[in-house]
Amino acid sequence: MRFVIPGGTGHVGGVLRRALVEAGHDVVVLSRRPETLEAGVRHAVWDGRTLGPWAAEVDGADVVVNLAGRSVSCRYTDANLRQMMDSRVESTRVVGEAIARAEHPPAVWLQMSTATIYADARHHGRAHDEATGVLGGDEPDVPLYWEYSVRIARRWEAAQAEADLPRTRRVALRTAMVMSPDRGSVLDYLLRLARLGLGGPVAGGAQHVSWIHGDDVVRAVLFLVERDDLAGPVNLAAPDPLPQRDLMRTLRRAWGRRPALPATRRMAGLGAFVLRSDPELLLKSRRVVPGRLLDAGFTFDHPTWDDAAADLVAAVRARR
Ligand SMILES: NC(=O)c1ccc[n+]([C@@H]2O[C@H](COP(=O)([O-])OP(=O)(O)OC[C@H]3O[C@@H](n4cnc5c(N)ncnc54)[C@H](OP(=O)(O)O)[C@@H]3O)[C@@H](O)[C@H]2O)c1
Repeated sequence: MRFVIPGGTGHVGGVLRRALVEAGHDVVVLSRRPETLEAGVRHAVWDGRTLGPWAAEVDGADVVVNLAGRSVSCRYTDANLRQMMDSRVESTRVVGEAIARAEHPPAVWLQMSTATIYADARHHGRAHDEATGVLGGDEPDVPLYWEYSVRIARRWEAAQAEADLPRTRRVALRTAMVMSPDRGSVLDYLLRLARLGLGGPVAGGAQHVSWIHGDDVVRAVLFLVERDDLAGPVNLAAPDPLPQRDLMRTLRRAWGRRPALPATRRMAGLGAFVLRSDPELLLKSRRVVPGRLLDAGFTFDHPTWDDAAADLVAAVRARR
């Protein structure tokens, strides 16, 4: 199959395009920069906002997987929040336009979204699936600016849903933290936190973390491509979200480090500042489960964090 991956130069893109090339697919990455990627990956330049010659790549493709968006691992300044919103909404809108104009539109458009769209889980007794999950936006007791992340997610999904595409199936991938052994990945960030002495419970550590192993992201993408009965939002998360203190304890054990000291909210803010990130990524309770994938018969290669952490740590060590 021919896959077109806007924004495929980043971490999730790396996991996906390497696996697709290895499986013998034709992969085209759209990026704003002239890039040299792996052998077997073609590269086309776009600006993420306007139609251009790149749209010809979409015409005749089998699948589009749009991953484009300014990284959320940054300080949440006004300017960065605006870029986080615009890069997602505008790139999604223009991908929809390219598909709408294609003579031979792709059969399926998988659009990245985020598990952050759901409400902070501390206010809900159960995990969020697609059927019963509560979208975020008006929880009490969470910092007001967290609502903006939910608003980004909602507009991101709306930009896909609003496109008029009678011949293309659409899926929004409400994705949890993607755990891969690559440099600069979420796992890399968590291991760096551990090295800073912040690998213990943060602000009590009861907040849930939803995660998914990169290999299962690839498998879920291929599953969703094949299953033409599935459309709309699909949670891409392992069925084992767990409290942050347990997630970090398991990771520390897998890495072989001594117990870490607990960190207060304020220390988490400082640690995030040092890492030029935002404490929301550590403090929001994300408890999201893959209701639709499980109902459809998808099985995870790494369903539990114990297993995934051991596998990922072994891969990080092998890389080093
Ligand atoms: N990593 C995770 O755990 C995770 C979890 C849930 C959702 N997501 C979402 O999945 C997507 C991919 O994640 P990732 O970790 O691979 O992110 P990433 O490493 O930051 O890559 C995203 C790519 O988007 C492109 N991009 C950045 N700013 C852009 C802009 N203003 N206009 C158009 N393109 C822009 C960049 O490509 P070029 O610079 O080459 O143009 C970049 O390589 C993101 O939208 C992210 O929010 C990620």
